[in-house]
Amino acid sequence: MTELINKRWVLNKRPVGMPEDECWKLVELPVPEIEEGNILIKTLYLSIDPYMRGRMNDAKSYADPIKLGEIMTGESVGTVIESKSDNFKVGDYVCAHRGWQSYIVAPGSDRQLFRADPDIVPLSTYLGTVGMPGRTAYFGLQRVGKPKAGETVVVSAASGAVGTVVGQLAKILGCRAVGVAGGEMKCSYVTEELGFDACVDYKAGNLEGDLKQACPNGIDIYFENVGAEVSKAVAKNLNPGARIPICGFIAHYNSTNFENEETPFHVFGALDPVPEHRFFVVTEWFEEWEEATKELSNWIKEGKIKYRETVTEGLENAPQALRDVLTGKNFGKQVVKVAEQ
Ligand SMILES: NC(=O)c1ccc[n+]([C@@H]2O[C@H](COP(=O)([O-])OP(=O)(O)OC[C@H]3O[C@@H](n4cnc5c(N)ncnc54)[C@H](OP(=O)(O)O)[C@@H]3O)[C@@H](O)[C@H]2O)c1
Repeated sequence: MTELINKRWVLNKRPVGMPEDECWKLVELPVPEIEEGNILIKTLYLSIDPYMRGRMNDAKSYADPIKLGEIMTGESVGTVIESKSDNFKVGDYVCAHRGWQSYIVAPGSDRQLFRADPDIVPLSTYLGTVGMPGRTAYFGLQRVGKPKAGETVVVSAASGAVGTVVGQLAKILGCRAVGVAGGEMKCSYVTEELGFDACVDYKAGNLEGDLKQACPNGIDIYFENVGAEVSKAVAKNLNPGARIPICGFIAHYNSTNFENEETPFHVFGALDPVPEHRFFVVTEWFEEWEEATKELSNWIKEGKIKYRETVTEGLENAPQALRDVLTGKNFGKQVVKVAEQ
């Protein structure tokens, strides 16, 4: 075999605010000979997710920060091109959580390797609607939001990877689904194509009034993805007994003064009475991931869950793709196409 070269993005400098190009370095290394028990995966798609920004900070969170010189964290889907493991054979498709790189060496026994089957849904979908973001919506809404038919569910970043699934799942469960998204195009996609009952454009200048109008019976569940002014507007329309799964708060991720930010915990924690709210991480339900992926795939097949993706070409453009997610330039799940299938 001609020598394969692995391209990988490593963290070069911690960002202040928006991560600029100098925060990363593209390193090229020969792909090593794989050892007994390992597999070699050629990356086809790389997932780009908001949480990656947090890992670039030298700050404590539910996961350790990436060290300087270490590979950027990220999930990808690829094809096995060499196997010295009984668990996988050449030609298998597999999802791995092993960073921004074009070739991956992993032990075939890694519990974080998941099979992908392009005959069920397209491969990139394993990074989105049936992958980590879809499962986040699935567990966060059902286990933390605890929806009952007839209730009103509001979700921010509604046209995104998590938000699209939250709203459509809310509809499947018999709820009124209201999205909050940036711009007319995203809002009309959310109502006309995804079937939400309403969508409020938070950039249109009348967030509080528009949200009140979209939720005539108040808000029972707010699935928090964004923070900032959206949380404040929601806080004024919550019903008694409301639940708030705090999934993320992307509007604060580039803050240079995070300690003084008014996060959703401050906004909802200051209400009287304090509504039920908690931060959750999708890994809380790791043991049930496969089941969730199966159910989400079935809903896609039945046409009950629709989605869209923004595909950026080339691993070298991954940093820009992350900036696009942090500024809302993505429309639906953001992925990077690393190689042809
Ligand atoms: N807890 C967990 O386990 C878990 C797992 C996955 C994701 N998450 C969280 O879920 C949220 C959504 O993630 P995703 O992967 O589905 O991303 P996404 O919604 O596909 O993309 C991010 C979206 O956030 C919105 N946004 C970006 N900057 C913003 C700002 N300053 N103010 C308001 N909105 C902004 C943009 O939509 P608009 O154009 O509509 O503003 C953008 O398209 C994030 O907060 C993420 O951290 C949490």
